[in-house]
Amino acid sequence: MQVCYKIDELLSCVEKLKEEKKTIGLLPTMGALHQGHLSLAKRGKRENDVLICSVFVNPIQFNNKEDLEKYPRDLDGDLALLEEVECDIVFAPSAEEVYAEEPEFTYSFGSLESVLEGPQRPGHFNGVATIVHKLFNWSKADRAYFGEKDFQQVAIVKDLVRQFNIPIEIVECPIFRDEDGLATSSRNRRLSPEARAIAPKIHKILMKSASLMKTLSVSQVKGYVESEFKMRKEFTLEYFEIVDATTLQPVKIKGDNKTVGCIAVWLDGVRLIDIQKY
Ligand code: PAF
Repeated sequence: MQVCYKIDELLSCVEKLKEEKKTIGLLPTMGALHQGHLSLAKRGKRENDVLICSVFVNPIQFNNKEDLEKYPRDLDGDLALLEEVECDIVFAPSAEEVYAEEPEFTYSFGSLESVLEGPQRPGHFNGVATIVHKLFNWSKADRAYFGEKDFQQVAIVKDLVRQFNIPIEIVECPIFRDEDGLATSSRNRRLSPEARAIAPKIHKILMKSASLMKTLSVSQVKGYVESEFKMRKEFTLEYFEIVDATTLQPVKIKGDNKTVGCIAVWLDGVRLIDIQKY
């Protein structure tokens, strides 16, 4: 496994791979890798000749300084895990090099970013699009792998690819859950043991909402989820929305289109997100 700390090092690797006509899979991450990342890495490895995994805590996608500072970092641990899944190249650049020049371009995703995470985290998706676009350019990957837990991020990345005609396939991968149902996330490691023990309640409530969707109205299901969190003082619900799976616009009445429940909830000072497909 080769580790590139500089952009030029990655570019030379990619040039060689392209000469050899190898297919490239890219797994963009912010490190603190967990089983969810590793399942994406294994898939990327299976479906391409070469897997590049980027490990970069992207400062410009954090709208909260404290969140950026607290974001877990463990490059040595990440490298050991990536070695185990036979990743070929790790790209771990410095923020100084990536943002040697202040980004001048601002991305726009219209109504896709005016909902859910968008209003809660101003500038977040512009930051994500900036780094993802750079990674796509540098890696010249054929496929890039993203987890469905960040449902809105996947929609934004697909729109980025559409807007800029980037020749890359976006591969959406199912959520990886711990045995008790909690969606794996780098942020989970910041939960106290007590909070970790009750965190699976999020998935349980969402699963129940899926069975209620069969008989109740959208607003009744929304009311159910909101009341479940209101009565559990450990949790603070930031939002729960039932949205159209393609447009991400809130749905008022059940129709033929696929819908998804998207949630952001605070527990023990940690912001957790999850989704439920209906
Ligand atoms: O999902 C993440 O970890 C990040 O948003 C990403 C896609 C690596 C961009 O920094």
